[in-house]
Amino acid sequence: MVQHRVVLLPGDGIGPEITAIARQLLEVVSQRHGFELVFEEQPIGGSAIDAAGEPLPAATLAACRAADAVLLAAIGSPRFDTLPREKRPESGLLALRAGMELFANLRPVKIVPSLIGASSLRPEVIKGVDLLVVRELTGGIYFGQPKGRIEADGDERGFNTMTYSASEVDRIAHVAFKLASQRRGRLCSVDKANVLDVSQLWRDRVDVMTPAYGDVEVSHMYVDNAAMQLVRDPRQFDVLLTGNLFGDILSDEAAMLTGSIGMLPSASLGSAGPGLFEPVHGSAPDIAGQDKANPMAMVLSAAMMLRIGLKQEAAADALEAAVDKVLAAGFRTGDLMSDGCSQLGCKAMGEELLKSL
Ligand code: IPM
Ligand code: MG
Repeated sequence: MVQHRVVLLPGDGIGPEITAIARQLLEVVSQRHGFELVFEEQPIGGSAIDAAGEPLPAATLAACRAADAVLLAAIGSPRFDTLPREKRPESGLLALRAGMELFANLRPVKIVPSLIGASSLRPEVIKGVDLLVVRELTGGIYFGQPKGRIEADGDERGFNTMTYSASEVDRIAHVAFKLASQRRGRLCSVDKANVLDVSQLWRDRVDVMTPAYGDVEVSHMYVDNAAMQLVRDPRQFDVLLTGNLFGDILSDEAAMLTGSIGMLPSASLGSAGPGLFEPVHGSAPDIAGQDKANPMAMVLSAAMMLRIGLKQEAAADALEAAVDKVLAAGFRTGDLMSDGCSQLGCKAMGEELLKSL
């Protein structure tokens, strides 16, 4: 039987709750579809700070690099807000992305018909939205040097550097072009080229590459306009190509089109080696341990892992179908609750998902 080694990173907050559900579902679909998943859990983020004194222990990174795929729930806790930056949970996630060389972050946003009423936007605006944010993940202002805080002339200054090399732009743009040609053939590259040199380079590189992808129609959009267009007319978008910071912001905005960030999965990929699959949402410390979390984004991330990371298409379809079925039957966690639906906790939602597999 085919075996895949999967590292699970439950992390912090609601992470362990939603990981338990994804694991159960993965065990069932793998058996049913004739392959075996060998799981190994590792600490990351706040749980790793508690266990090992650092947010990404070397053993966690080594296990992830040696796996066939990595499934991460969420990291972060206000308990660590006062630690120096390199000791905080978020730094563990950034170090994992860098350490696994995961430069391409794919965040698909697709409206689930039964959730159309859960969005804060009108149904006629969001009906049929199906877009993909392709976010550069290991460069830009998140990693640029120099950065820091200095005292100068009795004042204090904080600074970061937004920087991209042509080759960094090229490799993420290639990913976006390829995905656009497999989808509806439209690529919108997001930048701030009216103000930023780094964005002008970004735009120039996308233009240089455009002729090689004759089947893709390319447009450029300033990030402020993109933020507006996402809520004005999100259906105009197929693939959105962004740098690290712009993609962070726009993907949260795009997530809300679906009614809840609790629905959005993501995949982070490099040019070789295992991918990292994780929900777009965070660790939700306010509801952690209360059995209130929405496990859907985690389950959909597990489905992305099966499809993209492990090439187990049929099993991925089965997980996604289970999510659709449970939603269509009117089961909702608190974040998506609306009139006429039945509200469930995280565990009960997991049981419904298992039943509908
Ligand atoms: C995300 C998150 C992370 C990011 C944080 C937790 C470091 O917001 O994955 O979007 O900014 O990339
Ligand atoms: Mg974010």
